[in-house]
Amino acid sequence: MGIWRASKEAEMSAREKAHMEKVRKFAAEGMVLLENNGTLPLGDGVKKIALFGNGARHMIKGGKGSGDVNSRSVVGIEEGIKEAGIEVVSGSWLDGYDKICVDSRAKYDEHIQEMVKSTGNPMVAFMEYFNNPYHDPDIQEITDADMQDADAAVYVIARDSGEGRDRKPVAGDYELTDNEKKNIEKLAGRYDKFVVALNVGGVIDTKALRSIKGVGAVLLMSQAGNVIGTVFADVLLGKSIPTGHLAMTWAENYSDYPAYDTFSSQNGNVDDEYYNEGIFVGYRYFDTFGKKPAYSFGYGLSYTDFDVKTTDVTLDGETVTAKVSVKNTGDKFSGKELVQLYVSAPDGKLEKPVKELKAFAKTKELAPGEEETLTLMAKVSTFASYDEKSASYILEPGKYFVRIGKNAGCTSVVAAIEVGKEITTCKLSNRFKIDTELDLLSKKNATPLTYDGEEEEKASAKVLTLSEDAITTVVAEYKSAPVELKNDSAEKVTLADVKAGKATLDDLLGQLTREEMADLCVGTARGGFGGDSVIGTASAVVPGAAGDTSSKMAADRGVHNLVLADGPAGLRLTPYFAVDEDNKIIPEMSAMAFDFPGKENQPKTDIKGEVTKYYQYCTAIPIATMLAQTWNMDVIEEAGDLVGTEMEELGVNLWLAPGMNIQKNPLCGRNFEYYSEDPLVAGMCAAADTKGVQKHKGCGTTIKHFACNNQEDNRMHTNAHVSERALREIYLKGFEIAVRESQPLSIMTSYNLINGLHAANNYDLLTAVCRNEWGFKGVVMTDWGTTGGIEMEQREFKYGTSNAADCVRSGNDLTMPGSDADIQNILDAGVTRAELQACARRILECVLECRY
Ligand code: BGC
Repeated sequence: MGIWRASKEAEMSAREKAHMEKVRKFAAEGMVLLENNGTLPLGDGVKKIALFGNGARHMIKGGKGSGDVNSRSVVGIEEGIKEAGIEVVSGSWLDGYDKICVDSRAKYDEHIQEMVKSTGNPMVAFMEYFNNPYHDPDIQEITDADMQDADAAVYVIARDSGEGRDRKPVAGDYELTDNEKKNIEKLAGRYDKFVVALNVGGVIDTKALRSIKGVGAVLLMSQAGNVIGTVFADVLLGKSIPTGHLAMTWAENYSDYPAYDTFSSQNGNVDDEYYNEGIFVGYRYFDTFGKKPAYSFGYGLSYTDFDVKTTDVTLDGETVTAKVSVKNTGDKFSGKELVQLYVSAPDGKLEKPVKELKAFAKTKELAPGEEETLTLMAKVSTFASYDEKSASYILEPGKYFVRIGKNAGCTSVVAAIEVGKEITTCKLSNRFKIDTELDLLSKKNATPLTYDGEEEEKASAKVLTLSEDAITTVVAEYKSAPVELKNDSAEKVTLADVKAGKATLDDLLGQLTREEMADLCVGTARGGFGGDSVIGTASAVVPGAAGDTSSKMAADRGVHNLVLADGPAGLRLTPYFAVDEDNKIIPEMSAMAFDFPGKENQPKTDIKGEVTKYYQYCTAIPIATMLAQTWNMDVIEEAGDLVGTEMEELGVNLWLAPGMNIQKNPLCGRNFEYYSEDPLVAGMCAAADTKGVQKHKGCGTTIKHFACNNQEDNRMHTNAHVSERALREIYLKGFEIAVRESQPLSIMTSYNLINGLHAANNYDLLTAVCRNEWGFKGVVMTDWGTTGGIEMEQREFKYGTSNAADCVRSGNDLTMPGSDADIQNILDAGVTRAELQACARRILECVLECRY
């Protein structure tokens, strides 16, 4: 039984208040101004607002599923506006929508209760809740009577998505509903100042917003956590300035995205996903194939204007340095500007996208007239492409044009780096043999996007020649199989001895039995996943945390357990709980991390003696996509630091975050948990988050889901068929950057298969690439229930599940949340002591780092 770290104080703590204030300060940096004709900021003159839309009261602070965070309260949009001293004149219309939602929720709950009754199994209800989560219904139409006099109108469009299900390109999700369009049209005709705010975690179709006359501003307010309403009101009124820029391309139409018709369930096939677009993901596709997006990658307006001038580009060894001066040319508002450095590599044996991001920087807040010179640096070796034929990264000969711009759709050529002959920057070995023929996209007949004067810029660009010896080829070293350690000494070695320098880890590992190590390599939800442990809340130590490692060897070997809890939008724990005199949790007096209708039908606990109540409210921070939209690594590090503080306070060692899969397609149900379509952005953001968390003693991040968890439908059984080049340049690159830059304490594998092999059981991915090539030192763990037990659908799956024995063999140290069957599988399937020792070593190193 645990000694709870949670607080006994029911009142909001000083930490909660301070953290909400912190988020309030930085969140506006992630809001992106998409359109503005001067309507925003509304300013002091505004006293009355007509507020409409499904997000006005029912706003989304973050998405659904394990990424949802249980904060004490959420400041809604209406509340935030009212708190700012403004009257909201559309209360009765908002009441009307409340009523529609209450009725619809009651029907949904009834349906779930019915399922529990008919099956007698609350888990069935949970699965239904998970597979078909509740969504608020369509909005009612606004009538003339609803449109009371006001100084401005605001329409909030909200969209929710979550784990286990992908989004759909239909009205109410990716598309606007007819009622939404009609409402926006009416308001645009009625009010002089009209703002549309997008409370969304991903892309939606914005055509209507741009074509309806009278929409004065469109603000991607995103999903900012539990102070969302306050942050929004600050931006609306001009107390904060939105300085965000998109981290994903917003297309004109859903069908403009590559592989739009085959993504996830779009073609009815969720067993196999063919990554036929290869490396042409996001802006790499749009630019190269001549598809003009609605809003480019990196796009974002400001309340003011900036002049961006490249003053110098130099090449020193293999380092390119661009000096860019940015001036706020407005006279009213301050602001921050983003500057991006792209490179256009020459085509040769390999096709190259028109441009790739290689560096970025954001100014400080510049007052009107103020100027700052930014320095952007990139190494030429990062311009190389992966050549599957030679299993190496190569720089092909030719001119590499360096571009500077505010976003992918607006750059100019500022220099060219001349590479005389082919250079191998890195010699590897191919590790991801394709299991089927791919019909890879080629740019042969494509007409890229261009602009007036591009050719002249290229022709007159200053040429910097790369010296042949500027780059030294890196040759990967692959380690051979581990050798068994033996220690026959009768004296029992403990982890405390290792810490004290009295013994080595080898001494300890040499004494551990296969049984002891199998136990250590499997999480503690031993009743079987999906049985006695509700999904994602299997910890016995910190209520609502997702799982624990074993403490079986705590007493005799000092191997304490690690506590693992979700993110990424904060720390997901049970917000409050009560225990009896034996310290046993009383479920019906506790809020569980996942409350679902039908749960109340579970048997009542016998309450023994005195009841003690505990509280562990955490801060819901902005979703990962919004953090990325800040393009400010200091802000992301601060967000990580904030989470680390809460982990330290509540006794969590490993945060199951950040999520860093590539936003390959806008319909992925978990895109909100991910940063970007670009691996450099994803990698840098994850590294900043990790640095923030790992400042705290005993706390580390778990970058996830490694790799290619780019869709949610059939996520546990889908087989991602991807070329080795696309894997290395796009889907693994962000993980590589995060590992090299920040050495996170752990990595979580994804459920899916990659080229026919489960990521969780993939030696090449986990050991050869991640450990040997990149130097990852931490623990690798599985996603929850990878080895079976939480099938979300009752059907035959084309591909089976991974297994715990192959996890150990491939270097996946921890099977989570664990079951007896996992241990048995490791012991029965002939996993060697040496293989177990390799995994146990890394877990023990993590315990040493976190618990000593
Ligand atoms: C999710 C993970 C999460 C885990 C634990 C899984 O369903 O995919 O992202 O960390 O549950 O809650």
